[in-house]
Amino acid sequence: MALYSEKVMDHFRNPRNVGVLEDANGIGTVGNAKCGDIMKIYLKIEDDIIVDVKFETFGCGSAIASSSMATELIKGKPVSDALQLTNKAVTEALDGLPAHKIHCSVLAEEAIRAALEDYEKRKAAAQ
Ligand code: FES
Repeated sequence: MALYSEKVMDHFRNPRNVGVLEDANGIGTVGNAKCGDIMKIYLKIEDDIIVDVKFETFGCGSAIASSSMATELIKGKPVSDALQLTNKAVTEALDGLPAHKIHCSVLAEEAIRAALEDYEKRKAAAQ
């Protein structure tokens, strides 16, 4: 069996939602100290709906595929749904990751959570 699923290879080769969102109102950056990979998520949220999302990932193929899939899973969804996104859901949507690559999907969950926290902070500050 191939080490990586076709979905992982597809999202690695053709990542969705790559780039920067200039008008993001929630930005989260996380890193994994062990492997040194870094993931940054940009969210544009209007009326508690994620109307746009982009990512920049300096990391391995699984981290890129995880970021790509995670952004697809939350795009157009309410903030409350995005808060529920787990690395398990990202991994399942990718048809699995090798055990030693699970932490790459954790990075995606953490980056989205950090971006949502940033959004909440900005919202509270604006009130
Ligand atoms: Fe660390 Fe993939 S090896 S995020």
